[in-house]
Amino acid sequence: MITNNIVLVGFMGTGKSTVGRLLAERLGWNFLDSDAEIEKNEQTSIAEIFRLHGEAHFRQLESQALADILAGSGQVLATGGGAVLAETNRTCMLGSGCVVALQATPEKIIARVSSDQSRPLLQGNLEERVHALMETRKSAYDFATMAIDTTELTVEQIVEEIIARTG
Ligand code: S3P
Repeated sequence: MITNNIVLVGFMGTGKSTVGRLLAERLGWNFLDSDAEIEKNEQTSIAEIFRLHGEAHFRQLESQALADILAGSGQVLATGGGAVLAETNRTCMLGSGCVVALQATPEKIIARVSSDQSRPLLQGNLEERVHALMETRKSAYDFATMAIDTTELTVEQIVEEIIARTG
C-alpha cells in the first residue's frame, strides 16, 4: 500500500503518541502530534484551552491543525482521541493517507491514563468517565483503514504490525 501519511486515531490512552514516535523513527518519517501542535501554536496547554475557551473552540483549533499538518506528506500523525468526531476531519485523514485505529480495553486505558490527570474530559471519577465516553464513541473509529488491538501488545509489536500492514 502506498501511503502519504500514517494517521493514528483511537481513544485516549491507546498509545497513539508513543507508537507514532517509534513508527516514524523506523520509517524515517516526521512525527507530529496534533495536541502538541495546538499547544505550540496557542502557547498554552490543552487543559487551559478547554478551561478558558471551552471544548468547541478546542475542536476548531484541532480541525485547523489537522488540515495544516495533513497537507504535507511522509509524516506519522498522532491525533487527539476526539479528532475523529468531525466528519471533515475524518475525510481529511482518509484523503491524506492510511488511518490506523489503535484499540484497547477500558481496563488497559484506565491503567494507562491514570498517570496523567490533566485530560479535561477525564476529570472526576476516572473509571466512570472512561466507560461513559467509550460508550458514546463506540463506533467513532470504525472509519479507519485498519484497526489494531494494542491491549496485549508491546509498542514494538504494534509498530511491526503497522509496518507489515501498510508496507
Ligand atoms: C481528547 C483527547 C486528548 C486531547 C483532548 C481531547 C478527546 O488527546 O485531544 O484532551 O476528546 O478524546 P489524547 O487522545 O492524546 O489523550
